[in-house]
Formats: sequence, C-alpha cells, structure tokens
Amino acid sequence: MPSELNLILLGPPGAGKGTQAERLTQDFDLPYLSTGNMLRAAVSEGTDLGKQAEPIMNEGGLVPDEIIIGVTLEALGEADDGFLLDGFPRTVGQAEALTKALEERERKLTAALLIDVPDDEIVRRLTGRRTCAKNGHVYHVEFDPPKHEGVCDQDGSKLVQRDDDKPETVEKRLVAYHDKTAPLVGWFEDRGLLRRFDGTRSPTEVHDHIRATVATLRLEDEL
Ligand code: AP5
Repeated sequence: MPSELNLILLGPPGAGKGTQAERLTQDFDLPYLSTGNMLRAAVSEGTDLGKQAEPIMNEGGLVPDEIIIGVTLEALGEADDGFLLDGFPRTVGQAEALTKALEERERKLTAALLIDVPDDEIVRRLTGRRTCAKNGHVYHVEFDPPKHEGVCDQDGSKLVQRDDDKPETVEKRLVAYHDKTAPLVGWFEDRGLLRRFDGTRSPTEVHDHIRATVATLRLEDEL
C-alpha cells in the first residue's frame, strides 16, 4: 500500500505550478486542487465567492484569509488519499490553518515543492501564456506552444489569455507574492518540509527533478 502524499506547490505567479501539477497528478495519481482554478470557476458561475473574488483577482491582490481558508479546506476535505495543492497556502495564516486541519485528522504534509523563477522571467511567461478555455490546460506561445495555434492539443478547445496576465496586473501579483507568500519559504524550511527546484529549466527538466524527489519522499516514508 503506497503511503499518502500530501503535497504543496509553491512559487511566484507563472513559475510553472499548473504546468507541473498536470504532470505530477498523472505520475502519482493524486487529487489536485488549484485555488486559482476554483476561484476562476466561481467567477464564471457568478457565485457569491466569485463576486467577492473577481475584483481582487483582477487587481492582482489576494483573496482574504477569512474567505479562502474555509472554502479550500472544505474542498480538500474529501481528498483523504493524499493531494496536490496549487496556490494554497499563500500566507502564513493559511499554512497554519492547513496544518491544524491536517493534524485534527492525524495527517501531515509531505513537502512543499518550491519552483524558483526570477521576476524578470515571470513577466515573459505570463504575457505569453495561453490557457484552454474548457479544461485549463496551459501553453506558452514561445516556450510550450500547442501544435495548432490557438487550439488545445488535448481537447481541441479554444486557447484564451487570462484577465490577470496583463503586464500591470502581473507586477501587482509579484508584489503580493513577495510581501505575503515568500515568507512561507522560511516557514516550510524551518519545519523541514521545503524542497527547491530551479524553475528556469525546461518544463520537462523541472518535471523530472520534482518527480524524482517526490518518488524518493514516498519511498522514505514507506521504509
Ligand atoms: P493562481 O491561478 O494560483 O495564479 P498564480 O499563483 O499567480 O499562478 P499562475 O497560475 O499564474 O502560474 P503557474 O505557476 O501555475 O504557472 P503556469 O504553469 O501557468 O491565482 C490567481 C489569483 O487567485 C491570485 O492572484 C489571487 O488573487 C487568487 N488566489 C488564488 N489562491 C489564493 C489563495 N490561496 N489566497 C488568496 N488568493 C488566492 O506557467 C506560466 C507560463 O509559463 C505558461 O505559459 C507555461 O506554458 C510557461 N511555463 C511553465 N513552465 C515553464 C518552463 N519551465 N519554462 C518556460 N516556460 C514555462
């Protein structure tokens, strides 16, 4: 019986968290929860959560902890065979709430996987990103293009640009990252949970490194 993998993807906007998540969930057969995807779905469905989140997301800010913690922990509640979390926690308050919720269920985090990318590279990545309108598969016009321009390889849907990928919003998202989320790097490091990856390598190289690390973590846990 393989041990439970409870993983977090950490890193600045555009570091490649969604790109790697798509591969890792297949490698390790893990339930995947992206708070960004969850919020975008809420916005397009016009729910109360979506109405509260939309102006904040469009401004490049963070949805307040009082809102995001409850909905994320509820969505995670059913993932009792492990999980891959993308975009949460994003503040120390969120990390503390997640740790407490896991402890209450006698579970613990396996690792926080940090994908490191410098700010100047982020802007190039986000302005060239295209996302499948139907299922969220991620491409880049230059670094990871689809076979046919503007069309998703996987399901033939249209590729679109995210509203918050405009250069001025990207700058604000980076400020929010350095201010509120980067302190989590030390927080996870102090708890022996941080694993760092060089996100400037190709998507395949980053994937190979993360996959090898996660496979080792699982093996160590089983010994
Ligand atoms: P969210 O959707 O989580 O956005 P993000 O963290 O800013 O991350 P991105 O999705 O922009 O980037 P990514 O790291 O997944 O990169 P990707 O793989 O697409 O959150 C959106 C908003 O929701 C937030 O701003 C906030 O308002 C709100 N929110 C969400 N969670 C919240 C929380 N917990 N608390 C409060 N608010 C919250 O890659 C980017 C591009 O680069 C792609 O085009 C890709 O093809 C390309 N690429 C990927 N890897 C490589 C590589 N190795 N080399 C070259 N190109 C690459």
